[in-house]
Amino acid sequence: MNYQPFLNKTAIVTGAANGIGFAIAQHLVAEGANVVVNDLDHKAAAAAVIKLNAGHEVQAYAFPGDAGDPAFIEKMVDFAANITNSQLEMVVANAGLTEFGDFFDFTPESFAKVVNLNLRGTFFLCQAAARQMRDQSSGGNIVLIGSNVGARAYPNLAAYGMSKAGISMLAKQLTLPLGPLGISVNCVAPGATLTERTEQEEPDYAGVWAKLNPNGKVGKPEDVATTVAFMLNPAARHITGQTLLVDGGWTAYAPSPFFLREQAEDQPTAAPARNGTVLKTRNMEMVK
Ligand SMILES: NC(=O)c1ccc[n+]([C@@H]2O[C@H](COP(=O)([O-])OP(=O)(O)OC[C@H]3O[C@@H](n4cnc5c(N)ncnc54)[C@H](O)[C@@H]3O)[C@@H](O)[C@H]2O)c1
Repeated sequence: MNYQPFLNKTAIVTGAANGIGFAIAQHLVAEGANVVVNDLDHKAAAAAVIKLNAGHEVQAYAFPGDAGDPAFIEKMVDFAANITNSQLEMVVANAGLTEFGDFFDFTPESFAKVVNLNLRGTFFLCQAAARQMRDQSSGGNIVLIGSNVGARAYPNLAAYGMSKAGISMLAKQLTLPLGPLGISVNCVAPGATLTERTEQEEPDYAGVWAKLNPNGKVGKPEDVATTVAFMLNPAARHITGQTLLVDGGWTAYAPSPFFLREQAEDQPTAAPARNGTVLKTRNMEMVK
């Protein structure tokens, strides 16, 4: 018989109506899990659940609301734990938002938005889920969604990058209170991933990032979803406190005088290609 580690287990995925979160929910449903599909957008959450449940018995449950609000998060965890036998085995803190802006003009309002969802929401989702996992005394598995921008500076993303680096640190910190309870916490950090949102931001998103990533490809939501599933698998239980980048090698290379020389010779920025030659791409600033 096939190994089915997620069969009849319960997961929460926040921000799961679209993009990476939806791909994670889809992967877990396909592997037999019950999935609480959270999203701020009520209509989109309902539509996602219809798609996820098509052709089989109900496994996806919409629970729309603000994943940055601790009171809402507690209700969501209670809801999830009541789907089957008071058990919640998996949580994916995926909801996160990006506010671009020049450092000198960045407003307290934009800063609060980023921190409220990315840091406060992620922290209190971990807390509520871990309390539930502690009480059910069968352990659990938490995956936080970080970003390559939490590992490398990127134009106009100081607050976002800071928040994602904080998420990566949270995974390390939580090994101490949660390790003894059998709860793993890891961070999966996507690089540039083609989603409905990123395509809106840059129409040639796939083309640009295929050139900037050393593996010559843009990330797809499924690339992140399969990595999250690996981290959630009980077979990976000894991995905790880690950040795994899913970025086509983007964070592996650093700017060098070589790129500057190429830029001076031929205007556009240069990035390494798979075959060791140099690709001419548009200026990074244009990618945002
Ligand atoms: N797409 C990328 O290139 C990329 C790269 C690195 C990291 N990430 C991270 O991956 C995660 C998912 O990214 P994405 O591009 O798929 O996201 P997205 O911007 O497309 O948003 C996904 C969903 O989150 C929902 N959402 C927004 N605010 C919410 C809130 N307060 N509560 C609940 N849901 C909310 C949106 O309605 C949307 O359906 C984020 O944490 C993001 O920072 C994405």
